[in-house]
Amino acid sequence: MDLPVPNAQPVSDYFRRILTDILEELVDKVPGRYPSNTEIVKQSLRGISNLYKNGLRFPNSNLRSDWDDPANRCAYVFLYLMHHCYLVYGSLQYSDEVSRSWRNRSSLKVCSIGGGPGSDLVGLTTFLRVHRIFPPSLECLVLDLFPNWKDTWDTIYAHQLDSFTVTYSSCDLVKDKGIHTRDLQFIKQADIITLSKSFSAVSAFYRADRAKGIFLRNVLQHAKPGCFVLYIDNDCGGSTQFERDFASRTGMDLVFEFRGTPTFPKGAYSYTIRKYHNLFDFSPMRSCDVTIQLFRKKGAVQSGQAVRIESNSTGQMRANSSIKQAAVPQGPPVGVILSASRSTPHHDVIPSYNTFPGISHHPKRTNPRPKRKTATTSCCPQACTIL
Ligand SMILES: C[S@@+](CC[C@H](N)C(=O)[O-])C[C@H]1O[C@@H](n2cnc3c(N)ncnc32)[C@H](O)[C@@H]1O
Repeated sequence: MDLPVPNAQPVSDYFRRILTDILEELVDKVPGRYPSNTEIVKQSLRGISNLYKNGLRFPNSNLRSDWDDPANRCAYVFLYLMHHCYLVYGSLQYSDEVSRSWRNRSSLKVCSIGGGPGSDLVGLTTFLRVHRIFPPSLECLVLDLFPNWKDTWDTIYAHQLDSFTVTYSSCDLVKDKGIHTRDLQFIKQADIITLSKSFSAVSAFYRADRAKGIFLRNVLQHAKPGCFVLYIDNDCGGSTQFERDFASRTGMDLVFEFRGTPTFPKGAYSYTIRKYHNLFDFSPMRSCDVTIQLFRKKGAVQSGQAVRIESNSTGQMRANSSIKQAAVPQGPPVGVILSASRSTPHHDVIPSYNTFPGISHHPKRTNPRPKRKTATTSCCPQACTIL
């Protein structure tokens, strides 16, 4: 079953445009003359897709990608960015609880765990814009084992339509126990915590040693009443583990669950995407089996009845027992993807629990309007189902 996503086509066109705008720059950031940087990224594509297929089930750090390598980061963005942004965007409007809760807010705080290049933030800010609920102040904290992702985010952010604050902070979901004070302060005020495709990177370690989940449980424990937690991951049992060992132990109510195969709509690929599609001999991922769960911290805010929807063997939707089908609101039309840019963005990388040298404060900047696509012709021939 596909995820019903309002405005799917214009939003997917927008994500395609972001990839078009950033791809050349990301490839240029990959050092290498021989073999050429495109050849290096091509090898990375095979490497990371292999590790995703075969490595994640083992609690072995050698079977995880090295995201400090710019070629791996470039390959990741080419393969997954569009689909992951689309997943977050679509998930947030699967029920109308999020948009209702955030209407007329003057500020929002978002914590993205294992946020990588910022796919969660692109999906979420697109949702805010389409629903006309982008607040005057939006602050985001990305917690990740590889804060060098910030370099990739800077390229992506330059093509975002709104200004907002993003800080990257280093954390290890497997080894860390305590949370740095400044991150804890943020987490306590967060309106949503996203875990998109990051739990599967660590779930095998948690299965092997349950003590290893302390950091993540701590984060969820400190979330304020009413804080949303958006879990999205490949459908390989991790959702049961997350719900049982983390969400339900930290006072989270399930708002809705979706199990199925969200598919990124087909559309015209730009000249740039087609060029790299040919050079890499790889297609960006368009579809994969996932579980999406939205939780809400118990407390002051009353959650509605949870919605669990999954598809049966014939692809039909099945709603569990007492449960109504999620209302999928129709967002406003295409044009709302454009909005005025804001002032005062700022983007930091904070060395957290362990020091990591060489990453500095990035200056303020203004957001350029995204460039128009230089050429568009046919779509990608094949959906890539790597993950
Ligand atoms: C598949 S990527 C997901 C990135 C992003 N959320 C998305 O949807 O595109 C997994 C992320 O988890 C991070 N990660 C892997 N192991 C981690 C760990 N032990 N602690 C914190 N983050 C980790 C990686 O650096 C990467 O950014």
